[in-house]
Amino acid sequence: MELKYKHRLLLVDDEESITKALYRIFRREGYEIQTASSGQEGLEVIKEDKKPFSLIISDQRMPGMTGTQFLEKAKKILPNAMRILLTGYSDMDAIVDAINRGEIHRYLTKPWNDDDLLIQIRHALKQYELIVENKRLLVLTRKQNIELNELNKRLEQKVEERSREIIEKNKKLARVNKELESNFYNTVRAFASLVEMHHPSLAGHGRRVSILSREIAQLLELPENEVTHIEIAALLHDIGKLGFPQKLLEYKVDKWSPQDKELFRKHPEQGQETVQFINKLDHVGILIRCHHEQYDGHGYPDQLSEEEIPLGSRIIAVADAYDRIVNLNVEIDKSIREIQEEINKYRDHLTDDEVLEKAAILHLKHYSFTQYDPDIIKVFLKLLKTKGGLYKEEKELSIEHLKEGMILSRPLYSSSGRFLLPPDTTLTESYISKLNALHLRDPINDIIYVLRQGRQMSNDE
Ligand SMILES: [Fe+2]
Repeated sequence: MELKYKHRLLLVDDEESITKALYRIFRREGYEIQTASSGQEGLEVIKEDKKPFSLIISDQRMPGMTGTQFLEKAKKILPNAMRILLTGYSDMDAIVDAINRGEIHRYLTKPWNDDDLLIQIRHALKQYELIVENKRLLVLTRKQNIELNELNKRLEQKVEERSREIIEKNKKLARVNKELESNFYNTVRAFASLVEMHHPSLAGHGRRVSILSREIAQLLELPENEVTHIEIAALLHDIGKLGFPQKLLEYKVDKWSPQDKELFRKHPEQGQETVQFINKLDHVGILIRCHHEQYDGHGYPDQLSEEEIPLGSRIIAVADAYDRIVNLNVEIDKSIREIQEEINKYRDHLTDDEVLEKAAILHLKHYSFTQYDPDIIKVFLKLLKTKGGLYKEEKELSIEHLKEGMILSRPLYSSSGRFLLPPDTTLTESYISKLNALHLRDPINDIIYVLRQGRQMSNDE
């Protein structure tokens, strides 16, 4: 049995012959040995000695202090040291008591056999080494645990900091993306308005259809990005007509040749082709393509029906028909003329505008389920009822009443149809002075719609 350390032993006996005999035996083993002739002296040696003892052997019967009393006191000073009592058989009660109380680890009886004695001592020293090693490992483990906890805490802090940074960056990125997206759509709105301004037959139609479509989409509580797609598609729905000869644009359907009709029916596809290479307008292109599909499947170009037709296209079809009758005064087909004749009987009681509005409503109701989605018609009629009146959350103003902090509830166009600002824009002093400057050159005479104060506050939250 190999021992790892060089051990120090303390031998305590009032009989010098015993300590000498033990000294000789242990010297051969290479232990470093101290002796004392009483318990009192033993305690002083322990206290004065700078290096700790691995093992203490004490005689039981000594004057002044018994071996167990001495070892009990020694334990308080050197708790790790192995304590062995040297005694005769007659002291058995004291030995059992000391062992039970944990004051001594072993006992040796006099007289001893040298070899047995050495084996016993080696066992005790091995036990000592295990205890010391155990304690060392325990201290080390505790220290490492503390370090590990510290590291964990620092790591958690770092992860938290990093997460916060990433969240912040993501928020910033989302803001920049939203800004880019809104800039992109504003550019599309501005170009669409310019195209219309230079094309008298289309003038204002796209803008009005886009405003109506946006309102229907909002009443249907569609997500904001879908509302924007529908608004933009409505704005561009007839872009495929650019380049059409004038007679096609004027809707003189009676004068159209079969080739004219064929060409006219191509405008939804041509419109989609115009925007198809602009990535962000993919979805808008599909809505443009389908705006002449009919609910019963008799439309064009793909003869889609009911839910096959994108919701945005079904909305645009209704807003488009309404605006063509009311504002472009287009005779859509024979039945609308019949409807108008019917209305004409009551003409005396109605203004021209009221006749057209009535005709448009009758047309939409008449073709509900065949040309138009009946659910959209329902929502649209509800929308018309609130027209003239306002939505609860908005109020109408003219340009001179605009104030900083007001939020536009609808897109703002000049009276000539030039796109100026998108909905949800918060008016700044700079916007207001730019609008006033523009008003002198390109008047803004239409009503301007802004959110009521309460709604604006809840928007700010
Ligand atoms: Fe069209």
